[in-house]
Amino acid sequence: RIGDPCSIVFFGASGDLMKRMLMPAMWNLRLGDILPANYAIVGFSRSPFSDQSFRDEMRKSVDEFSRSGLAKEPLWSDFANHVSYVSGPFDDTDAYKKLRDVLEHNDQQFGTAGNRLFYLSTPPSLFATIVGKLEDAGLGPHQNKTGWTRIIIEKPFGTDLDSARALQTEVSKVFDEKQIYRIDHYLGKEPVQDIMALRFANVIFEPIWNRRYVDSVQITAAETVGVEGRGGYYDNAGALRDMIQNHVMNLLALVAMEPPVNSGADAIRDEKFKVLSAVRPIDRARVMQETARGQYEAGSIGGKPVPGYREEPDVRPDSNTETYAAVKLQIDNWRWADVPFYLRSGKRLGHKMSEIAIRFRAIPHRLFGEAGEGLDNNVLVMKIQPDEGISLRFNAKVPGPKMHIRSVSMDFNYGTGFGVVSAPAYERLIGDAMRGDATLFTRWDAVETAWNIVMPVLDRWTATYDENFPNYAAGGQGPASSDRLLAADGREWRKI
Ligand code: BG6
Repeated sequence: RIGDPCSIVFFGASGDLMKRMLMPAMWNLRLGDILPANYAIVGFSRSPFSDQSFRDEMRKSVDEFSRSGLAKEPLWSDFANHVSYVSGPFDDTDAYKKLRDVLEHNDQQFGTAGNRLFYLSTPPSLFATIVGKLEDAGLGPHQNKTGWTRIIIEKPFGTDLDSARALQTEVSKVFDEKQIYRIDHYLGKEPVQDIMALRFANVIFEPIWNRRYVDSVQITAAETVGVEGRGGYYDNAGALRDMIQNHVMNLLALVAMEPPVNSGADAIRDEKFKVLSAVRPIDRARVMQETARGQYEAGSIGGKPVPGYREEPDVRPDSNTETYAAVKLQIDNWRWADVPFYLRSGKRLGHKMSEIAIRFRAIPHRLFGEAGEGLDNNVLVMKIQPDEGISLRFNAKVPGPKMHIRSVSMDFNYGTGFGVVSAPAYERLIGDAMRGDATLFTRWDAVETAWNIVMPVLDRWTATYDENFPNYAAGGQGPASSDRLLAADGREWRKI
């Protein structure tokens, strides 16, 4: 159970994320007895709900999306009693004053002790406005004389390096870095947290986790979904901004960083920042050789026909936005010199699959001649979703009188291994922010560096219209240009 009492305010409370993820997460934190004894939840949005109609809406969301199924009485009524709603325009100071009154009332009624967690789950264009208005209404962290104030900010943090810096300037006028929790839900996924355990709680992996033994690393975040009614947002974002700059970059940092000096939030985030800083900037003149982009056309997923990207609502009919991005990066440090890191993410691919694959070098000498023809390089795969586990590919003798060698795999699966189902990332992350543990949140220096890494690609892709779009069929493996990116290095992508 979380120790500190606290009120949590969700801005954008009538939105999709609130329905599907955030309110079900709050409810499950309550069911699991993880919420503090003294808590209150406030929704803030433009939609004109009353407290009661908001609670009713939230009950519907929980019934539909919670991992624990239908909300049960009498616990739901008790929980709903802690939920209230403030309606108003995001740029109206009076609405924030109403919010302040509600929070003060909560301190009295629920004993929330002046501790406040603000969660910004609105379109990013509103982030700076909300932060400014909180301060105008006396809700800034330095104006809070009784408790602590923290803010969770959803992605994307900026749409490019300059806008991210501008947003940071605004947010940091009101909040100190220690009070800012930039959320990246990938960091809340169990197998992502396990990357550190695998590397630093075992003795056998770390000695080979370097250029001497590793041939290359592939990081994949492949989805089968399209833009899911978010065409307006996505057409101005694209795969590089939507997935690579944040989720995939965080995976890269965790897999490639040096061992932190301790498990504290800053020690870990120092190492993540350091390794991202060592990523070699892509030469602007070579962007087209070091990257590949794609856009899906109509196809079929699981036997069901799906439309092409340009046919999706709110997408420009001649859109130049990529729904698939692949980037080859090099890390200029002692551990990783000359080891390519291949990153890719795309929508409407054949399967949902997020994983990190470490491919090791070939054996130095082939002892088995023809018998060893089925022999392959060792590969360690950290499976993030939908399978959660670790798989090690190695070579073994095929039973029989002859010496035949073939590649086999040794698999660990979290579900069967531990006999539990992982909690959704948002539960873990909201709980951590309430506790004041920022380990799984992205610090500003890493966000800035990640933008720095993708900027040459973003600039070049935006400036060059891709005449070949759309260039991959929904339900496939992505564009041929992506295969060529690896083929140029004598390598292949793992199958999606
Ligand atoms: C979000 C992106 O951050 O992550 C979405 O905006 C994407 O476009 C989603 O679909 C993927 O998350 P997950 O957890 O399903 O891999």
